[in-house]
Amino acid sequence: MKFFIDTANIDEIKKAASYGFLDGVTTNPSLMAKEGISDQDGRIKAICALTSGPVSAEVLSTEPETMLAEARHLASLATNVVIKLPLTMTGLKTTKILANEDIHVNVTLVFSALQALLAAKAGAAYISPFVGRLDDTGVDGLGIVEDIQTIYSNYGYETEIIVASIRNPQHVLRAALLGADISTIPFSVINQLASHPMTQQGLATFLADHARAKEIKT
Ligand code: G3P
Repeated sequence: MKFFIDTANIDEIKKAASYGFLDGVTTNPSLMAKEGISDQDGRIKAICALTSGPVSAEVLSTEPETMLAEARHLASLATNVVIKLPLTMTGLKTTKILANEDIHVNVTLVFSALQALLAAKAGAAYISPFVGRLDDTGVDGLGIVEDIQTIYSNYGYETEIIVASIRNPQHVLRAALLGADISTIPFSVINQLASHPMTQQGLATFLADHARAKEIKT
């Protein structure tokens, strides 16, 4: 499974990359706003310089012509930019045009398996089902991912599933058990992935035993 980080924060991306298992980055307008950024070009270029993996940059235009022009502009910023488009009819039409130009699209704000089927038919390279937001409404978000996996496998679609809106390590675990291609994970959750109380306790005991053995020897 590939791990992306879901952030527009440079420091978080650098730290996550230093762990050695970062495969890409996803951003969105809310994450940009959190960093105080209203013009995302500079930040997208800076992120693309930090990783050779795909970096999703979200288009803000909602009308067909402006959406296409903005997408082409974002794609020109760096070779590893992936265009994030919303799952709307305009987004799907634009996805098809961009896919024909070999521009990779990540169709976002996916909340149902049928939406995911449409995105695959449009030629999306990636789709982003929002599992945490679905869970918040009482729907099992990872259940939708399972349905998407079944549909894509039924028809041989190569669209990669980015499990998004991840809130905790359990989401990553379940995504991996389902065989989802990618999890895009907030920095706080990335830091929880390796931690287990028994690992900490075990390490403390090993170090204490070693210190005692040294004392006895001296
Ligand atoms: O990047 C899209 C997605 O991960 C958003 O997550 O936490 O705002 O639901 P969240």
